[in-house]
Amino acid sequence: MTRDGAVARRRFLRFMAASPLAAWAARANGLPPLLGSLQQADAVIASLDQALNVLDFEAAAKQKLPPAHFGYLATGTDDDATVRANRDAFGRYQLRVRRLVDVGKVDTSVTIFGVTYDTPIVLAPVSSQKAFHAEGELAVARAARAKRHLQILSTVSSTAVEPVNEARGEPVWYQLYPTDHWTITEALIERAEKAGCPVLVLTVDNVDNNRETVERYKRQDTRECKVCHTLPWDRSQLARPMFSGLDVSKATRLTPHVWSWDFVSRIKDRTRMKLVLKGLVTREDAQMAVDRGVDGIIVSNHGGRAEDSQRGSIECLREVLEGAGGKVPVLIDSGFRRGTDVFKALALGATAVCIGRPYVWGLAAFGQPGVEKVLDILGRELVLVMRQAGTPAISRVGSDYVVDRGRW
Ligand code: FNR
Repeated sequence: MTRDGAVARRRFLRFMAASPLAAWAARANGLPPLLGSLQQADAVIASLDQALNVLDFEAAAKQKLPPAHFGYLATGTDDDATVRANRDAFGRYQLRVRRLVDVGKVDTSVTIFGVTYDTPIVLAPVSSQKAFHAEGELAVARAARAKRHLQILSTVSSTAVEPVNEARGEPVWYQLYPTDHWTITEALIERAEKAGCPVLVLTVDNVDNNRETVERYKRQDTRECKVCHTLPWDRSQLARPMFSGLDVSKATRLTPHVWSWDFVSRIKDRTRMKLVLKGLVTREDAQMAVDRGVDGIIVSNHGGRAEDSQRGSIECLREVLEGAGGKVPVLIDSGFRRGTDVFKALALGATAVCIGRPYVWGLAAFGQPGVEKVLDILGRELVLVMRQAGTPAISRVGSDYVVDRGRW
């Protein structure tokens, strides 16, 4: 192809990616478009140095992963409307930047439960990371250690908490999915405590869901799933390393249908660890959490995987902060892809921001270096926007730095 021909082709692809036709074509194909498709119209990155932003890793991960595994990572629920809402919602908030502030030095550190972290960007719990890369959670832990990020480990990880803590160099926060059997829940709590985890993150948003996108991707996968997945879904989750040595024969599912605020109190009474609830999105629940003595909250809709509420996670932040009344730290996740996204959440009052899919895209595409690069890019973008906004430290990133168009 001539140079002119190549330029014309690139322009055409860019036009197509930006056009509603692209979304239509992907839908007609049965699959949602990649969120970063605009950026990725030209080519899939082949090496780390080609990545301009974290969305570049999505297409690279898609290329490396079997369709069913990529589908598991990408899927939301129903129409994936909450996945899109998480991204779209950032457009509702705009920055009010200040000029002529000395930003020669920018301090991104934050303190949570008395511990200071170099960065407010936290690795959210993501299950089954060996489905994305052979080194799974260990590669992520090494990257988190190298880049000094807080990491949260899922109950349904493909590596147990002890080796992950060793690779991380210090104990991670432990995310808990209780089963419908209290003795199993207790055993998980005890194990995390024994491993030195300082914080227990109880996820309360993932009761039942209808994930269609993953089903569509599975249809594209020519491999025989049963070769690796020998057990039905619920049983296979109960067979993960964190359940080893436990009698799971009587447990029927990972997240119980029947749970309540009393259950939260029961867990709180059972552990020395700080208790954080992950998945709250309303003022009322935040108030209840504080009343029950919960130590922290993560505003989250599970990256749009819990229910198709169509509310962006960041749109829930302000009311949760009001409910929490400044008594506990409030973290947030779901849809964060840019330094400006992180900045907006911090400005609105979040203590820290967790990311899920972006670091897993990095993991799937390039292993540990991919995770490190994703963290580097987001960290660099955050410093950039802090400089642009005239905020030398996160403590200076207040609500006067954002305009909420939704409130006009
Ligand atoms: C998750 N998430 C999740 N959360 C949790 O508490 N326990 C878990 O085991 C998992 N597993 C999991 C698997 C996969 C493939 C994804 C994508 C997500 C949710 C996760 O912690 C976080 O809330 C979202 O990923 C944040 O949204 P983004 O950053 O992925 O948009």
